[in-house]
Amino acid sequence: MSHPTRVETTVAELGISCDACHGPGERHVTFHQATKNEDPAVIAAAPMVDPEKISQVAASLICGQCHSSSQARDPIDWLKNGSRYRPGEDHTESFRHAEIGSAEPLDAPYLKDSFWNDGTCRAGGDELLDLHDSACYQQGRMSCLSYHSMHDSDPTDQLRCSNDSNESCLQCHEQYRDQLEQHSHHPIGSSGSQCANCHTRHTSFALLKAIRSHRVDSPRTTDTTLGARPNACNLCRLDQSLQWTATHLSDWYGVPRITMSETDQKTSASLLWLLRGNATDNRRVGYELATRA
Ligand code: HEC
Ligand code: HEC
Ligand code: HEC
Ligand code: HEC
Repeated sequence: MSHPTRVETTVAELGISCDACHGPGERHVTFHQATKNEDPAVIAAAPMVDPEKISQVAASLICGQCHSSSQARDPIDWLKNGSRYRPGEDHTESFRHAEIGSAEPLDAPYLKDSFWNDGTCRAGGDELLDLHDSACYQQGRMSCLSYHSMHDSDPTDQLRCSNDSNESCLQCHEQYRDQLEQHSHHPIGSSGSQCANCHTRHTSFALLKAIRSHRVDSPRTTDTTLGARPNACNLCRLDQSLQWTATHLSDWYGVPRITMSETDQKTSASLLWLLRGNATDNRRVGYELATRA
């Protein structure tokens, strides 16, 4: 007989099972073992969830059940019975997500360091939360599947358009196709003309490397104090100051200039991040240096 304070656990399946993304498969399998019928009408009688055929919100929650920080609304039920969520359903019905600024903040203090001051994820694994903060998701139909494919992609990063990443953005922002150089102010084909390098910079840390922010937004300069998210321009131009970036954002894009300290005006921003930041910030700048060596 087990001790009352011990939790009895069993492994259902090692790795990420088909059911985690497609829903319970038992009925589907027994049905097809019995009929062996290839008729689409018959197959539809015992369906599996196809993430591509449901709303972008429900599809993203399939990934977000694991790729976000969440707490069960009923922890005792969760410990006894496991997750009540099934793919295709609303994950937030049984779990609270750690959205910064949400009406339902999580109790876990360790989450505080998982976010930059502006609420963007600093630690990887919370990609859903950044997606939720993106205008492309809120006003468009962007989902995890706009970029990722689970069965037709390289296992590293699992990107749908790995040959030309700009296509992932141009599928919705077609107007930038012919005006890319005017917009980016960098030569076509250079890393400075890759949409993702300016709009989803590597500002999260996970899987022992820097990964792209999943919050699509535009470069901005704030300051270099602890917790301020590094901007795309200074993560590329490691030798330049925030002032240099602010001047270009103003000259090229009309972004209003902000007042900044004399140090931020004169010193390379990457050096200040290294000196003022915590371990994650240091790794961020270290990643840029290491990937260029
Ligand atoms: C049941 C949990 C679970 C679900 C559901 C899930 N993931 Fe993951 N995912 C993980 C874990 C755990 C890892 C880290 C694996 C490792 O490298 O050790 C991961 C890693 C990844 C990676 C990084 C791969 C690499 O090594 O470069 C990507 C990209 C990714 N997931 C995308 C998705 C997308 C998109 C979905 C939804 C279609 C999804 N995941 C659904 C648990 C999950
Ligand atoms: C991490 C999530 C995830 C896991 C695990 C997963 N799938 Fe999928 N599956 C998807 C997504 C997302 C799609 C939509 C197409 C794509 O992304 O490639 C899909 C599509 C499919 C399709 C439709 C493909 C088509 O050509 O129309 C089938 C069939 C399928 N999956 C079967 C499986 C089986 C069998 C397993 C287990 C061996 C599995 N999937 C595991 C996410 C997943
Ligand atoms: C599924 C469609 C879709 C995809 C994919 C998509 N976007 Fe968007 N995006 C939108 C919509 C809709 C808006 C809101 C209207 C607008 O500003 O054009 C938007 C807004 C934006 C904004 C303004 C953000 C803000 O906060 O004001 C930027 C920048 C942007 N997108 C860049 C990108 C980049 C870069 C990519 C590729 C990494 C991308 N988008 C992918 C649909 C999409
Ligand atoms: C060199 C950096 C850079 C690259 C590369 C880049 N952008 Fe931008 N983009 C910016 C900046 C900076 C702004 C912000 C302008 C502002 O804040 O008003 C911006 C703004 C935008 C906006 C919002 C426009 C609006 O009116 O609100 C969209 C959408 C956008 N970019 C899409 C793209 C797409 C799609 C690509 C790739 C085809 C791309 N960008 C490549 C720097 C870049």
